[in-house]
Amino acid sequence: MQTQQEMEKKLEALQSKASVRILAMESSCDETAAAIVENGRRIISSVIFSQVDTHALYGGVVPEIASRAHMDACDRVIDQALKEAGMALSDVDALAVTYGPGLVGALLTGVNCMKGLSYTTRLPLIPVNHIEGHVSANFLTTPDLEPPFLCLVVSGGHSHLTRVNAYGDYTLLGQTVDDAAGEAFDKAARVLGLNYPGGPLLSKLAEGGDDTYLPLPHPHPDGRYDFSFSGLKTAFLNACHKMEQKGEALPRADLAASFERAVVDTLCERAMLALEDSGLDTLCLAGGVSANRRLRAQMTALAAKRGFRLCMPELWLCTDNAAMIGSAAYYRLRKGELAPLSLNAVPSLELV
Ligand code: KG4
Ligand code: ZN
Repeated sequence: MQTQQEMEKKLEALQSKASVRILAMESSCDETAAAIVENGRRIISSVIFSQVDTHALYGGVVPEIASRAHMDACDRVIDQALKEAGMALSDVDALAVTYGPGLVGALLTGVNCMKGLSYTTRLPLIPVNHIEGHVSANFLTTPDLEPPFLCLVVSGGHSHLTRVNAYGDYTLLGQTVDDAAGEAFDKAARVLGLNYPGGPLLSKLAEGGDDTYLPLPHPHPDGRYDFSFSGLKTAFLNACHKMEQKGEALPRADLAASFERAVVDTLCERAMLALEDSGLDTLCLAGGVSANRRLRAQMTALAAKRGFRLCMPELWLCTDNAAMIGSAAYYRLRKGELAPLSLNAVPSLELV
């Protein structure tokens, strides 16, 4: 076991090192991923093992199956990330792992794997919040991006509007009062007969549809920057069920387009309000739903019209990956934040 003194010395040395290479692991949901990232900005290697096909058989993520699959895959993805980087563990400066939020068993697999690696290699371990990882995906795609900026985080479990004041320093401006945007996409997709994860499939289906076909409510929760997707989702499900009961064929593309439009309009409207009020000139998107074509196009048009800077992660960096964890970890390391070997998974970890 390393003494506190040894650890502090290592931390000091790393904080003044010109090139810091972090091996990061992500296992909070249904992706087992490892990546090596330099100085929070440059991806040296990235490996993602997706369990989507396994969970699709059940129409959603089965937590026990996810934990087991992470256990089988975690050593493999780490080996592969090192191999692709042409590096050995001795070339790595620090380790990082997602410790929340997410599925407890899934998180624990990654946390225990990286704690074991930290113990045997004596490399410091940096604990990372998954949502902060999504925000940090923007640092990988936009090299000159620096806080402060506003970030719209829209994933399967979260919909947040947050002000990024400085690295690792956030003010939560608004959030969903019920379902997350990705969750709403997935539920609507299921009614249209699409498999898990439904978001991207619904979006594809929406491409040829008439987005004015089904008018949907535009909820305004009390919080100025809060979102609500539950009423919209229920109205959508009811409309579909009514048509089915009448024996009518569902105009699936039109329904998908109407739903996507309603969600994207809400996200854009709230983000614009927060951006205007904040006086910031940069908006970043993050999380799985930020891969949505309509959201990206609509935000791009708004940015052109209103003159703010829009940053979006590359498509593959929007959904879960370990490179974003390696980026976030670098800035946590700079603040001197290391995990003790007693680090535990925190399934409902908050960003702020
Ligand atoms: O960030 P993420 O990979 O995992 C979580 O941290 O939750 O987000 C996954 C969510 C799923 O709900 C998925 O349906 C949604 O992001 N998603 C999309 C698209 N790609 C992924 N939703 C709409 N359009 C997309 N293109
Ligand atoms: Zn995620």
